[in-house]
Amino acid sequence: MAETSKTATLTLHGETYELPVLSPSAGPDVVDIRKLYAQADVFTYDPGFTSTASCESSITFIDGDKGELLYRGYPIDQLAEKSHYLEVCYLLLNGELPNKTELEDFEYRITRHTMVHEQMHNFFRGFRRDSHPMATMVGVVGAMSAFYHDSLDINDPWQREVASMRLIAKLPTIAAMAYKYSIGQPFVYPRNDLGYAENFLNMCFSVPAEPYKVEPALAKAMDRIFTLHADHEQNASTSTVRLAGSSGANPFACIAAGIACLWGPAHGGANQACLEMLREIGTVDKIPEYIARAKDKDDPFRLMGFGHRVYKNFDPRAKVMKESADEVLDLLGVHDNETLQVAKELERIALEDPYFVEKKLYPNVDFYSGIILEAMGFPTSMFTPIFALSRTVGWISQWKEMIEDPTNKIGRPRQLYTGATTRDYVDVSKR
Ligand code: CMC
Repeated sequence: MAETSKTATLTLHGETYELPVLSPSAGPDVVDIRKLYAQADVFTYDPGFTSTASCESSITFIDGDKGELLYRGYPIDQLAEKSHYLEVCYLLLNGELPNKTELEDFEYRITRHTMVHEQMHNFFRGFRRDSHPMATMVGVVGAMSAFYHDSLDINDPWQREVASMRLIAKLPTIAAMAYKYSIGQPFVYPRNDLGYAENFLNMCFSVPAEPYKVEPALAKAMDRIFTLHADHEQNASTSTVRLAGSSGANPFACIAAGIACLWGPAHGGANQACLEMLREIGTVDKIPEYIARAKDKDDPFRLMGFGHRVYKNFDPRAKVMKESADEVLDLLGVHDNETLQVAKELERIALEDPYFVEKKLYPNVDFYSGIILEAMGFPTSMFTPIFALSRTVGWISQWKEMIEDPTNKIGRPRQLYTGATTRDYVDVSKR
């Protein structure tokens, strides 16, 4: 629990209120306003939650000024370099890095949960053949609650654990199936002899007609992309999962809600939007035109893959992602990638431009991820599903933490009402 040793004083309408100030293990102090409405009959106003801590959490910490991201205290660059995705999943879910036996047991369990109920194949076939994989994923993940009845009781710790395993294990299968369905190819079953990222690449790119061998270096790059996206504290989709879960909804329904929120171009959809923007810019000489549009208040255009609510110095994930982009393109022998040239030049120009400097707008994780995914062979429509499958562990860890928190309450924000006050109904003939 966060400590309380200080207080803040609020003076309102001649009355003084003492508000407890909670001290976190890292980050700014938090003024506890839970009793403010009961005591002072006022609400606080903070659209977009720019200054509001919605929960207490010990999973992920971001210092936006330092460009620091920690999973359970471990810096993201160390995890990206030295760890791997399933170990990171264990860490996020359980709070500590696993020992050798714990890791082997966890990997064994995840691997044995990767298949989906065979009847789900029929469910997929109900979608229009050219559905966006995110549309399919929102539906299929929500429908998991119709297939896995024995892990729906949120009050049973064992069922919560099984639901978590199922979600982490099956999301790659579901994302790959959504992709295969969208391009009219047969579904590929998961293989227990392959690692998590390797298995995902195999399910996406192999076909029954010929053998397919996953390049280990590409599997490693894929695994790193999963790790970089695994959690990001109380972002929009995670807050959506928590809010849905606060009413007692089952975990599959909550994760489906998170996927829906992630889809938006201001959030997880930015990786698709960013690559489309880089392609639209096309050549380096067009960059100034797009920079000018991004700065124009009357033009809704924004530089996708730029800016972040929390990072105001640099996004540490973008740094690792940029290195990965160079490695992957090198490995694939792509030396004259025009999109990468445009991205690098755009980054260089924007970082020197006073508009972006003053507003502290830097490339975020999505700026380079699309370039890597495209080089690996993924169409843009798969970028956000890959983000979703990577973030599932973060969502489910945050959901579990919330359910296990004795102070958890249904999320129910208040509002600043500016509509009509009470008025009498007027018959339609008189309006
Ligand atoms: N291009 C041009 N101007 C921008 C951009 C951008 N990408 N981002 C912010 N600004 C401007 C914005 O117009 C505003 O200007 P002013 O103060 O003059 O009104 C100022 O910078 C602050 O922006 P904001 O929208 O109030 O900031 P926010 O914290 O609400 O939004 C954001 C953060 C990520 C939604 C926004 O920067 C954005 O839309 N970026 C592009 C989309 C993107 O890349 N999203 C991925 C985020 S990282 C992955 C994830 O977490 O999902």
